[in-house]
Amino acid sequence: MSLIDAARAVRENAYAPYSHFKVGAAIRARSGEVYRGCNVENVAYPEGTCAEAGAIAAMVAAGETELTEVAVIADSPMPVSPCGGCRQKLAEFGRHDVKVTLATTDGKVHETTIGDLLPGVFSAEHMERS
Ligand code: THU
Repeated sequence: MSLIDAARAVRENAYAPYSHFKVGAAIRARSGEVYRGCNVENVAYPEGTCAEAGAIAAMVAAGETELTEVAVIADSPMPVSPCGGCRQKLAEFGRHDVKVTLATTDGKVHETTIGDLLPGVFSAEHMERS
């Protein structure tokens, strides 16, 4: 199964009763294993979590900390764009050249990279003292 098909499948499980906007994310980790996540909303709106965050949490829970490819899908007019927080979360675990495929359920695709999604990323280097 392709990464985007894995994201498409897990999207079906999204819990989005408030936005009605279901998102699925799949990430391939260094081992080759694929981890999936969907958005999980909450009646206390800020407590909801994004699909990308869920996939990253699944990867880390399985003992992996490096992702090598990402796919995100939603039923949107144009390929879904990860929020700012998720861009920083992806950057925590993936190199800047990691491919990110953003897709719509009706087949529109935009390919980008973690680096292009988050120019000027805040990194551990910023906390080093000279
Ligand atoms: N959402 C994601 O899960 N990932 C994205 O990349 C964009 C937004 C979710 C959060 C919320 O549950 C819903 O989409 C509407 O913002």
